[in-house]
Amino acid sequence: MYSTLLTNLSEGIFTITVNRPDKLNAINHTLMQELGEAVDEVYVNKDIKTAILTGAGPKAFVAGADISEFLGLTREQGQALSAKGHRIFDRIEHSPKPIVAAVNWFALGGGCELAMACHFRLCSSNARFGQPEVNLGLIPGYGGTQRLPQLIGKARALELTMTGAMIDAREAHRLGLVNYVVEPEELIATTRELLKTIGEKAPIAIARVIECINAFAGGGGSGGGSGVRGFTLEQQAFGECFATEDMREGASAFLEKRKAQFSGK
Ligand code: COA
Repeated sequence: MYSTLLTNLSEGIFTITVNRPDKLNAINHTLMQELGEAVDEVYVNKDIKTAILTGAGPKAFVAGADISEFLGLTREQGQALSAKGHRIFDRIEHSPKPIVAAVNWFALGGGCELAMACHFRLCSSNARFGQPEVNLGLIPGYGGTQRLPQLIGKARALELTMTGAMIDAREAHRLGLVNYVVEPEELIATTRELLKTIGEKAPIAIARVIECINAFAGGGGSGGGSGVRGFTLEQQAFGECFATEDMREGASAFLEKRKAQFSGK
């Protein structure tokens, strides 16, 4: 199926594993293409409720864009490369189904940006994050200059991006880049537990939560901005929930003191 990804669907959780471990899962042209296709699967496959993005091998989530493809690119080709990454990472951020990053070890450059495009992140205790592009005479090109300040604040984002420094899991947690730090062998199990909890909720409500909170955060460039649009969107989305069977089921189940069974309608 895919040459650079492994995928697995069980219990409604779709796991996408970036699989170029000999190159620390660096994102080359094929991998970016296939990542886009795997994200499309998340959107269209009705059996997928939630998704995990992680990296193969013991050493990396994703160590960045594949630097070996950079030499010889023109200004126009560089911009097109960035635009393609933006399109796919935006699709991750705006996915109506939760996509969570399980960061095992290095998440550098495009790897850190990929993790940041996900709805939230867990990492292993040995994880390392960074935007080292300035070491290559570059800047982050897959949304990092926008998503990093949203997550950790402008001054810290500027420092991290200008020094190209790596931070460890504890610092990433302190800065709010990751929600949880767990032992490496517990990373996937912990992520799955969280996603099982989310997978039991009403899917339309989950999709609307993502949409509204993305509007607050700026939405990765395509979603809006200041939060003002988000207030309006929330009112619409709240109203739309009243037109769903799941809202009636959820409220009835509460009143009848039973567990809700959501249909996604
Ligand atoms: N692009 C292309 N290849 C990469 C890569 C990347 N971003 N990151 C790692 N690799 C390759 C290495 O070239 C090496 O390949 P080789 O065995 O054919 O020589 C292999 O992955 C293993 O990496 P190596 O550097 O030997 O591992 P290490 O443990 O010594 O160092 C890192 C790990 C992550 C510190 C180091 O690989 C690194 O700095 N990578 C680049 C990170 C970066 O700048 N990312 C932003 C890109 S815009």
